[in-house]
Amino acid sequence: MALLEIKKFGCPTLRRRARRVEAITADVRTLVDDMFETMYAAEGIGLAAPQVGVSLCVVVLDVSPGDPEAEATVLINPELSQGEGEVVGEEGCLSLPGVVGDVKRRAQVRVDALDRDGNAFSAVMSDISARAVQHEVDHLNGVLVTDHFSAIKRNLLRSQLVALKREGSRQRRGPIHADPVPADSSKAPT
Ligand code: NI
Repeated sequence: MALLEIKKFGCPTLRRRARRVEAITADVRTLVDDMFETMYAAEGIGLAAPQVGVSLCVVVLDVSPGDPEAEATVLINPELSQGEGEVVGEEGCLSLPGVVGDVKRRAQVRVDALDRDGNAFSAVMSDISARAVQHEVDHLNGVLVTDHFSAIKRNLLRSQLVALKREGSRQRRGPIHADPVPADSSKAPT
């Protein structure tokens, strides 16, 4: 396993729409394992592949610090549906260290995805799991928490965001380059 570099606000990969995973190859499983290692090392509860420069629809979650009953979860090609209720809560992001702000999310969502072995599953998530999965799926669509912040909040954070943007824009995009999309994505590089 390997620790991956977490891309900061300003890294172009964070603003791309991630590609769906067409085949769960050994490379994809290695990516999942490395993402878990990277997330735990950074003390995060969720991580999306674009945050490590990989433009693929892969998410890892482990919200057990906030919900002891939660288990580590891999979500490949996750789709959210049947959102219910709304709740505002404070959110941060490993790509925006030191930045927190209120974000309105669905209180409960259903997620359909593939697991690390490529098996389809669905789950209804609530509380911190629901918040985390919506945050991570946003990453797959190139959306960041700051997009949900109020204009006033973004203004207050302006100098912090400018500094992070500068840092992120200097980061390499790898290890998987987002473009061009390979015709056979089972050959997607790591
Ligand atoms: Ni994030």
